Amino acid sequence: MASALTTVTITGAGGQIGYALLFRIAAGDMLGGDRPVRLRLLEIPQGMRAAEGAALELQDCAFPLLHGVELSDDPRIAFEGCSIALLVGARPRGPGMERADLLAANAGIFGPQGAAIGEVAADDVRAVVVGNPANTNALIAASAATPGVPADRFTALTRLDHNRAVGQLAEALDARPDAVRGVAIWGNHSATQYPDVTHATVDGVPVIDALAERLGGRAAAEAWLDDVFIPRVARRGAEIIEVRGSSSVASAAHGAIEHVRDEQLGTAGATTSAAVVSRGEYGVPAGIVCSFPVTSDGDGYRVVEGLELDARSRARFDASVAELVAERDAVEALGAL
Ligand code: NAD
Ligand code: LMR
Repeated sequence: MASALTTVTITGAGGQIGYALLFRIAAGDMLGGDRPVRLRLLEIPQGMRAAEGAALELQDCAFPLLHGVELSDDPRIAFEGCSIALLVGARPRGPGMERADLLAANAGIFGPQGAAIGEVAADDVRAVVVGNPANTNALIAASAATPGVPADRFTALTRLDHNRAVGQLAEALDARPDAVRGVAIWGNHSATQYPDVTHATVDGVPVIDALAERLGGRAAAEAWLDDVFIPRVARRGAEIIEVRGSSSVASAAHGAIEHVRDEQLGTAGATTSAAVVSRGEYGVPAGIVCSFPVTSDGDGYRVVEGLELDARSRARFDASVAELVAERDAVEALGAL
């Protein structure tokens, strides 16, 4: 039996990540080669010509799974009946802009978009926020979407951070990336995040043991984790901006595609990382959108509970959660929640 047509809405579709996403989604990389999609591209008027150009190119690819492309600058039209929303378009930090200004500008985008999702999206809608500050933008959108859509249908992207961590470990251990399992990203998609290898393995061997073997002892392995691995992963976004001259695009789009694919199709028992609405797991204040290790059975992400966090891990995680709480308090003060 043919799969039902899925409506996918992408905001900021005329931007860089949008351009990297559209063709892969239309090719079946996100939902599989048997699921036809209709794409809805939401842009602001200034981005509309770029989105129109992407739509022309999509037509020129003649993707068999692509059953229509529609463009709009109205969230109520773009989210109508959509089952999957990728919220990519955001206001970047401009010169002289303070953090509070950035939060306020993005509240003005993610509040109305969340409200529109709550009113017009399909009953099964799930939304992932890519646009920064991603966790707090997801919190704003989720808050605006209720009661039409349950808040836990909103997530934020930390799969890119997860993949960065796997990539660093694979290189350091001369292993294939798919041999590395059990990495976790805790906290915010920011430099305070905690990339954690405590429960990670490589080819079934604890990562810490494999590092100790390679680097000449456990102390050297721990020093590498503290001094190289954690800061490298947590600041990778800034490193990419410095080297490329603009923020990550293809790797961010790839992370978003894997995030949605695993959320919709399941992780087959494997653990990955995603920022989800906290229900109080690991003592994280309920309601904030925080990255945890997660699994999916094809019906949304579930936090992996019961993992041990030693004092050093706890301190790193708590620092990132404190940043999320401060962001929540700031947008609450703006009246955005
Ligand atoms: P970009 O500037 O190339 O594109 C952004 C697009 O969004 C533009 O076309 C703009 O017109 C559009 N836009 C702005 N406001 C909009 C609105 N209200 N509705 C619809 N569209 C709107 O930027 P990009 O490189 O594509 O990055 C997009 C966002 O993703 C940025 O916030 C960036 O910081 C973030 N990002 C997140 C991650 C992550 O892992 N979470 C990784 C990389 C980048
Ligand atoms: C990234 O992690 O690559 C981005 O979130 C960086 C940024 O500031 O856009």
